[in-house]
Amino acid sequence: MVENALTTSRAKLEALAPVAMAPIRHHVFVCTGKSCATEASADVKKAFEYELLARGILFGKEKKGKNPRGSVIVTECASVGFCAIGPAVMVYPDGIWYAQVSTEDVAEIVEYHLLNGRVVERLALLKLPAEGKSVSPQGDRSPKWEA
Ligand code: FES
Repeated sequence: MVENALTTSRAKLEALAPVAMAPIRHHVFVCTGKSCATEASADVKKAFEYELLARGILFGKEKKGKNPRGSVIVTECASVGFCAIGPAVMVYPDGIWYAQVSTEDVAEIVEYHLLNGRVVERLALLKLPAEGKSVSPQGDRSPKWEA
């Protein structure tokens, strides 16, 4: 592969993707997979954007009313396996997976978790990395999967 000085230059890449230079502290993923979508996950994503925008910390383009120096980025994602307990919301780098998040929960997650570093325990079902639990009805006869 021939290296191209323009595309391999870090400065050039950063200019093409301003998020690479932003002081991002959290990435919030909102699942918009089929099951979560039926539980209004699009509204949950909008609620995050609204709350973060109101606090001036939603990363994005200034011409869209967002903050290019914002500390939180919000994106949607596909199914993560919380389909029966959605909408699922994941907060990174903390590795917290929230279940059954409603629009009414969003301000609390923003205030407690994103701004003050305290997990909203009543909604947090999983923290990564996780040890995992055996849920097989076959007990010891089930195959042992290892990473
Ligand atoms: S559709 Fe959201 S976790 Fe599966």
